[in-house]
Amino acid sequence: MNTSSAGQGRLLIFVLLFYGVSSNTVVLEEEKEPTYLTTAVGEYAVFDCDLDFPHEIPIPYILHWNRDGRTVFSWFDDVVIADEGYKGRMHLIDGAHAKGFGLGSINLTNIRESDQGWYECKVIFPNRTPSSRNNGTWFHLSIDGVVPPSEHVPGETLLAVPPINKTVMEGDPVAFDCVAKGNKSTVSWFREGVEVMNQQDLQERVSIKADGSLVINPTSMGDLGEYSCTITNEYGDTQSASAHLNVQYKAKVIYAPKEVFLPYGKPALLDCHFRANPPLTNLRWEKDGFLFDPYNVQGVFYRRNGSLFFNKVDESHAGSYTCTPYNALGTGGSSPAISVVVQRPPMFTITPQHLYMRKIGDTLEIPCDAQDGDLNHRPTIVWYKVSFTKLRFDFKGMGWELATMKGSKEGQD
Ligand SMILES: *[C@@H]1O[C@H](CO)[C@@H](O)[C@H](O)[C@H]1NC(C)=O
Ligand SMILES: *[C@@H]1O[C@H](CO)[C@@H](O)[C@H](O)[C@H]1NC(C)=O
Ligand SMILES: *[C@@H]1O[C@H](CO)[C@@H](O)[C@H](O)[C@H]1NC(C)=O
Ligand SMILES: *[C@@H]1O[C@H](CO)[C@@H](O)[C@H](O)[C@H]1NC(C)=O
Ligand SMILES: *[C@@H]1O[C@H](CO)[C@@H](O)[C@H](O)[C@H]1NC(C)=O
Repeated sequence: MNTSSAGQGRLLIFVLLFYGVSSNTVVLEEEKEPTYLTTAVGEYAVFDCDLDFPHEIPIPYILHWNRDGRTVFSWFDDVVIADEGYKGRMHLIDGAHAKGFGLGSINLTNIRESDQGWYECKVIFPNRTPSSRNNGTWFHLSIDGVVPPSEHVPGETLLAVPPINKTVMEGDPVAFDCVAKGNKSTVSWFREGVEVMNQQDLQERVSIKADGSLVINPTSMGDLGEYSCTITNEYGDTQSASAHLNVQYKAKVIYAPKEVFLPYGKPALLDCHFRANPPLTNLRWEKDGFLFDPYNVQGVFYRRNGSLFFNKVDESHAGSYTCTPYNALGTGGSSPAISVVVQRPPMFTITPQHLYMRKIGDTLEIPCDAQDGDLNHRPTIVWYKVSFTKLRFDFKGMGWELATMKGSKEGQD
């Protein structure tokens, strides 16, 4: 941006305004002084613009922010239109009044070198004649460290275009700008502070273009995070700027166990392991091919994360389940079937006597057997001596035969 064209633009506005004023014969209001702001590349600037409603009564209005006689940002009835170079960078301030700013105030973020210059905040009242006041509110933005290209001044800005926040669909490519002022500068890129070329999951999908921009192609859900670029010039001066990457995708199941055992008579949880960005809006369970709606099933509840909670597990809960998560983008599909098996605690079918008496050198057989509640599985039987050390044994029919007892010590290993 060179200053002479900015000056011509302003002159043009003044001439037009002058005509507007003379033909409508409005009383000139006392001239407001421009506001001078200073910021740096990569930073932000807040332009505080108050809307003076005629007689201080709020009426419909169109807000314009102009540069060089061109409207680069407008607001009307909650519809915002921003020029290409300002998209995602020029924001109306939310709840401006509460924060002590005028209703027309904007926050210009990710400042570029070319943002230096004049800005005009102008309000148009479409239902009123005259539809605008004679002159807008003027601002001049200076950017620290902007010096003519050939000179080297310590602290000069090295960055011409910093990166801005981006949101992409997973799988799509994304590019972040990081344009250096001088062509002798080098650009390096970091994700969450670690150089991208040193990150295994990124390495094969990233490239840094000749103009310094970073391209990730394709993006993956794990790429979300903060990306920063550092520019180093030929004198070793450095400057950094950063932006955030948001990767969105349909809600998807990331893991589902084939089989889940729930304990009969006890409370239990059946999880659906999913990821969603934007966040989960709905999660559907199916059981044996039919919609399973916990609201219609007694003793079963949805947890906030979509898991099913069973108050007291019984046989009716056994079956084949699938879960399907949804977010604002839809769903990536259902989980594979999760087979839920209700397990009763094992029961003894044969228990040992209370007391056995044998002579030293005799063989002793102590019977013990058990059965699972659901009869499908044979429980594991483990023997302990009262001292809780595991015994050595041989399997014999329905019971366990201890190795021949040679003495009281033998029972201890
Ligand atoms: C509008 O305001 C700016 C900044 O205060 C001033 O420089 C300019 O002369 C004004 N123009 C008119 C037509 O009043
Ligand atoms: C302007 O934007 C910057 C960067 O996002 C933020 O840190 C700052 O709080 C914003 N200022 C206002 C007044 O909204
Ligand atoms: C850098 O810019 C200078 C001046 O604009 C030009 O003479 C030079 O060839 C450029 N060097 C490279 C590597 O592009
Ligand atoms: C960029 O995104 C981050 C993280 O979501 C947020 O904190 C920051 O305010 C955003 N910056 C701008 C300029 O919108
Ligand atoms: C879901 O929430 C419950 C607590 O309500 C928790 O115990 C369970 O681990 C969570 N499941 C997942 C997959 O995060």
